[in-house]
Amino acid sequence: MLSEERNRTLTQVGPGTPMGELLRRYWMPIAGASELDARPTKPVRLLCEDLVLYKDKGGRFGLVDRQCAHRRADLAYGMVEDCGLRCNYHGWLFDETGACREIPYDDLADPASNLKAGVKIKAYPVRECAGLLFAYMGPAPVPPLPVYDALTWTNGWREVVTSDVPCNWLQCQENSCDPVHFEWMHDNWGARLRGSEELSPKHLKVAFDEFEHGFLYKRVREGQPEGSHFWTVGRVALWPIGFFLGQHFEWRVPVDDENTLSIALFFARVPRGREPYVQKTVPTWKSPLTYPNGEWITSHVINQDILAWVGQGRIADRSKEYLSGSDRGIVMMRKRYFDEIEKVRRGEDPKGVVRDAAAAACIELPLAERAQFVEGLPIEDWPKDRLMGRRMHGHVWCYGQPAEVWKDFAEAMGFDPGLRAAGEGP
Ligand code: FES
Ligand SMILES: [Fe+2]
Repeated sequence: MLSEERNRTLTQVGPGTPMGELLRRYWMPIAGASELDARPTKPVRLLCEDLVLYKDKGGRFGLVDRQCAHRRADLAYGMVEDCGLRCNYHGWLFDETGACREIPYDDLADPASNLKAGVKIKAYPVRECAGLLFAYMGPAPVPPLPVYDALTWTNGWREVVTSDVPCNWLQCQENSCDPVHFEWMHDNWGARLRGSEELSPKHLKVAFDEFEHGFLYKRVREGQPEGSHFWTVGRVALWPIGFFLGQHFEWRVPVDDENTLSIALFFARVPRGREPYVQKTVPTWKSPLTYPNGEWITSHVINQDILAWVGQGRIADRSKEYLSGSDRGIVMMRKRYFDEIEKVRRGEDPKGVVRDAAAAACIELPLAERAQFVEGLPIEDWPKDRLMGRRMHGHVWCYGQPAEVWKDFAEAMGFDPGLRAAGEGP
């Protein structure tokens, strides 16, 4: 349980709030790079700030203030140029550092005034990695982007899946350190939705550890030997807003206090023998939360999670909760947020910020099944594999994968796209 005041401290993310200041010390994924292929500008709201993400004709990504410095027109309707974004109202041109490069009328009629030299808009650095765009909204010096080794695996097919989740980010992130919900939400409730009352193996014990880049949760379920990697290695709640499960990452990016961008990056290694495989573009698609009739989608794992998060309320009232033994990881996480808020107040770098560029270039996260993702499985072994067997028939995690994305995936893996099950999308 948290007091209302402490709950506010952890859930408010605007500029100047304690948690907002902490989260601004980290690079966050904000979009799929391919989102800017069809239209080169995208309005985004992040940490309560309204911004425009764009890709100029020179291939540079920018993240700048939504409002033009001149008379506040909406830069989401701006025109991209060889370098920068031009406001569609009077043509002022800004680059990715926020500098004003041109004021067309004044540059022509009164060049000596050099008005543009004194004009700047808010701008944040953007980096592309593994098909994702990451942004850093904190103070200088900008730390290097932490590149987890899973973002560098080769011979694989990736996709970015986003959802707009109408609740606060923290209840989403607490789900990253919550082993027991798998048994109930995904297994037992999932079975009930399919008309079965069969119960899945019970959790017998759970444990939680902390490391530089997050927390590990470990579990033993009925019938599972203690030598299993679920107990010896565990799964990663990635600090400060992520979740890492090997074949995918999930991030819960705070849009504002009441909205979260769920952004997931999936990786599938091509079956052994199909190398070399180089993916042309990483597709990005949006997974809906509800069917057109308004009913919530419950068929896929992340859709189920989102239903739980939204069900906790717009901002979960932690003054009314009872924590139990299975919530020890959540208690550790909350304490860590409070402690790191204090570090930022003292002017120190918080947990997980890597300043050394060489160290940041490849960060290995704990993962038992790394060999499977690096070396691949023969396609004959896919049907026997817990996960890949299911992936031959659909997405498993997110509802609504577009048919062309499925086809591209199946073709990359070398199996028949016709294996797709019904109910994967509209
Ligand atoms: S408002 Fe943007 S150029 Fe005038
Ligand atoms: Fe879940």
